[in-house]
Amino acid sequence: MPPGVLLAYDPDSVALARACRDLATDMPITQLPHEGLPRQLAADAYGAIVYCGDLRNIATARAVRAHSSAVAGTCRLYFGLTRFDHWARTQAFAFGASGVHAVTCGKDLRALVSKVRYGFSPETADSGEQFHGIFALGQQGNRLRADMVEAAGETVIDEIESIGIGEWLKRVREHHQGTYQHCMTVTGLAARYGGLLGFSHRDQKHLTEAALLHDIGKAFIPLAILDKPGRLDMNEVEIIRAHPVEGHRYLEDLAQCDPMVLESVLRHHELLDGSGYPDGRSAGQISDLTRLITICDIYSAMIEQRSYKVSHTPAAAIAELEAMAGAGKLDRALVRAFGRLEAELA
Ligand SMILES: [Fe+2]
Ligand SMILES: [Fe+2]
Repeated sequence: MPPGVLLAYDPDSVALARACRDLATDMPITQLPHEGLPRQLAADAYGAIVYCGDLRNIATARAVRAHSSAVAGTCRLYFGLTRFDHWARTQAFAFGASGVHAVTCGKDLRALVSKVRYGFSPETADSGEQFHGIFALGQQGNRLRADMVEAAGETVIDEIESIGIGEWLKRVREHHQGTYQHCMTVTGLAARYGGLLGFSHRDQKHLTEAALLHDIGKAFIPLAILDKPGRLDMNEVEIIRAHPVEGHRYLEDLAQCDPMVLESVLRHHELLDGSGYPDGRSAGQISDLTRLITICDIYSAMIEQRSYKVSHTPAAAIAELEAMAGAGKLDRALVRAFGRLEAELA
């Protein structure tokens, strides 16, 4: 076995423990959660770590969280999940997984280890799973990692380049609901909008990352309020309106978070005529990046289907954006450019 892959497994699963011990003849293994971090980890001895176990087991999840945050950024992380449901997959991506795999027997585990060992990616996350992972980190009060955001942004750009924004939005509508659907929609629109405006890949990535994170402050608001099927009362509106400030506060702690992205998170509900929130900032105080996010955000809210409102068609939503631009709330030139996407969005 070439050096570089560590298998960390949950010994409570008897069948897997036997398979793991078999693998121990030619690769390093360690137990979760009964052993601490292997000393070699400090020396960045591994290119990849395969975690194997049930993340619904609290002790296992706690051990994996400690382990994965200690090695964050130094190696790739893969998860062999004995319970392969949506929650566990989201959890794995929140811990920084590059790939996840269902493992129900020793054979599955050996297949997973072989893939990692020979450099084949065992099922990488789609953008939705990556986003869920990012949101879950916020909800759990854990620190977000810049490389996770970057990877999720790249995935969105790649997916849209390969299937187009129309098909991408259709899939988002089918697979996500409420707040998740909104954030994914804004992100896809931003990625495509950046491409339309001829942004460099770097700037397009920036815009996409800002979109991914624009509502991260909502991770601190109960889903019962966020995804409430009816209209919100005054108190609930006030709680929701705190999300730009909450998101900004959360991301300020994140090393390497670009100041432009931070500004967009805080200012994406400001309008050029000063009628937005949280601070009623006006044109000269709102960056171009934020203006772009705001347009995608408002468009997205208009086309989303909710039980308490009628959703706009793409043409009607663009007409509404134009009306807002005419009233001095949005940037006219940027709204005009966004309108060129209409045929792709219909
Ligand atoms: Fe927002
Ligand atoms: Fe939003």
